[in-house]
Amino acid sequence: MRYVITSETKIDKIFDFDVIIVGAGLAGLYTALNLDENLSCVILAKDNINISSSWLAQGGIAAAISDDDTPELHFEDTVVAGAGLCNTEAAKILVGEGPQDIKALVKLNVPFDLDENGELQFTREGGHNKRRVVHAGGDATGRETVKALSHIVSKRKNITFSGHSCLFDIVTDENGITGAIVKYNDSEFLFFRARHVVIATGGIGQVYKSSTNPSIATGDGIAAAMRAGAQLKNIEFVQFHPSGLWLEDSDGHEFLISEAVRGEGGLLVNAKGQRFMVGQHELAELAPRDIVARGILKELKKSGETHAFIDITAKSDEFLKMRFPTIYSVCLDHGINISTDWIPVCPVQHYLMGGIDTDIDGRTNIPGLFAVGEAANTGVHGANRLASNSMLECLVFGRRTATSINDYRIKSASHGTVDLTKIPLRPHGQHDYAILRNRVRTLMSDHCGALRHKDGLTYALSKISEILKDLESIYDDSITYLEALNIATVAKAIVDAALNRPDSIGSHCVEDHYDK
Ligand code: SIN
Repeated sequence: MRYVITSETKIDKIFDFDVIIVGAGLAGLYTALNLDENLSCVILAKDNINISSSWLAQGGIAAAISDDDTPELHFEDTVVAGAGLCNTEAAKILVGEGPQDIKALVKLNVPFDLDENGELQFTREGGHNKRRVVHAGGDATGRETVKALSHIVSKRKNITFSGHSCLFDIVTDENGITGAIVKYNDSEFLFFRARHVVIATGGIGQVYKSSTNPSIATGDGIAAAMRAGAQLKNIEFVQFHPSGLWLEDSDGHEFLISEAVRGEGGLLVNAKGQRFMVGQHELAELAPRDIVARGILKELKKSGETHAFIDITAKSDEFLKMRFPTIYSVCLDHGINISTDWIPVCPVQHYLMGGIDTDIDGRTNIPGLFAVGEAANTGVHGANRLASNSMLECLVFGRRTATSINDYRIKSASHGTVDLTKIPLRPHGQHDYAILRNRVRTLMSDHCGALRHKDGLTYALSKISEILKDLESIYDDSITYLEALNIATVAKAIVDAALNRPDSIGSHCVEDHYDK
C-alpha cells in the first residue's frame, strides 16, 4: 500500500516549508534548533508538546563527562549492552560527540541537577560501569529538557509549531520527498510541501498490550516511511524495561520505575524478599536491561507470581522524595510509600532499538527523508539499548541530521510536485478498529515479547497479516483507522524480522532455536 489517502481525500490547505519535522519530542525539537535559521521549518505534534516519550523520560542522559570517565569506557558499555550488534562507527560518534551536546543543553538552560559544588550530578543505571547519567528535576529529565527546548523553539522565527497534526502520508515524486499529508484537529487535511521530512515520531509502544509509551505511539512515522519505500533495520529488537510499576488494574499504560532507582541502591527481590539477579550477572540488578527483564520473567515463571519488587527502603524518605519526586508521588497515589514499602514491578515494552534505517547523518534511502531518535535505526543500540543512551541519540543524531539538511538544501530549492488525484480509490470501510487493534496488540504481547518461540511467531504473523490485508483493502479517513493500520503494519514488520533471526541475541530471545 503506497498511500492511506486516496484521490477522494479532500485537501483543505497547502503550506510550504523547507523542512517538516514530524514529532515534538527531544529528537524533533533538537533537530529544529540546529537547523539554519534561514530554513523555514514546521514541527508537527500528533497531540501537544507534553505528550511524548521524551516528556515521560525519567532516568536521564548518559555521557562521558566526569573526570573519571571517557568516551571509550562509555563505548564499551554501549557495545556490551548491544550484544555486539552495534554499528561501531555510529556508537563512537554517539559517545564521542555526546558531551558537547550536553554542554549545549546547559547553555540552552536545561536545569540539570547539580551537586553541592554546582557541578553536574551523575547517577548510574543498568549496564553502566560508571556514574555518567545526568538528570533534571530528580526523575523528570525528559519533561525538564523538553520544556526548556520548546521554550526556545517558540521564540525562533523560522520554526512553526503545529499541534494536533497527525501524519497520514509522506509524499514523494521521482526525485524524492515532496511533503507530508496531515490530518489537523481530526477535521481537515493539510498538505505540507517540503523537500525535507524528518521522522522523529518516537516509539511503537501501542503495538503491544502494555507499554511505558504514550497513547500516541502507534508507529505512525515508521509506517508512513515504509509506505513511501523506506528501509527498516533491526526492527525485531524491542526492549522490555524490567521495572514497569505493576498494578492489578492496569489499563496498558504502565508507569516506569526508573532504572536509576536501582542505580541508587534499589534491590530486585521476589515475594519472599530474596534477591534473584545475584549470580545471574556480575552487575546483578544493574545488568543490561534485557538480561534483567528476562531474569524477572524467569523468576516469575518459577514462583508463579505476577510481579517482582524493588526494595529501596534502605534510603531515607527525605532522599527519595528529593531524588525521585515523580516516582515517589505516583507510587503514593497507589498506596505505596517507597521509603517503607517494596515497589511491585514487572517487565513492560519500553523502546524500539531498530527502525527506519539511516546513515550517521540521519539520511534514509529516500532522498529528502530523514529519521532521528527512536523511530530511526542509526545502529547505536545494536540488539539492546544501554540505559539513557536514547536521549543522547536524539541529541547527537538530531544535530547531525540538521547539519546535513543545512548543507543538502542547496541542491533542492524547489518544492517539487505530485499529483494526488492519481492515487487509487479503495472501498469505504466501517470496521471496529479498536477490536482489530487490540487483536494485534494481544498477538504481539503473547508471541513477540521478551521471550519468543517459532510457533508463536509464525501464528502471530499469519493472523496479523490477515488483519493488515483487510485494513489495506479499505479506506477510511479517521485517525482510528490510520492507527489500527499503522499498528498492524509495524507489528507485521517486527514479527517478520523476528522470524528471520532464529538465534537469540540481546533483546531478541528465542527459547526454541530454529532454522529459518
Ligand atoms: C529509566 O529511567 O529507567 C529509563 C531510561 C531509559 O529508557 O534509558
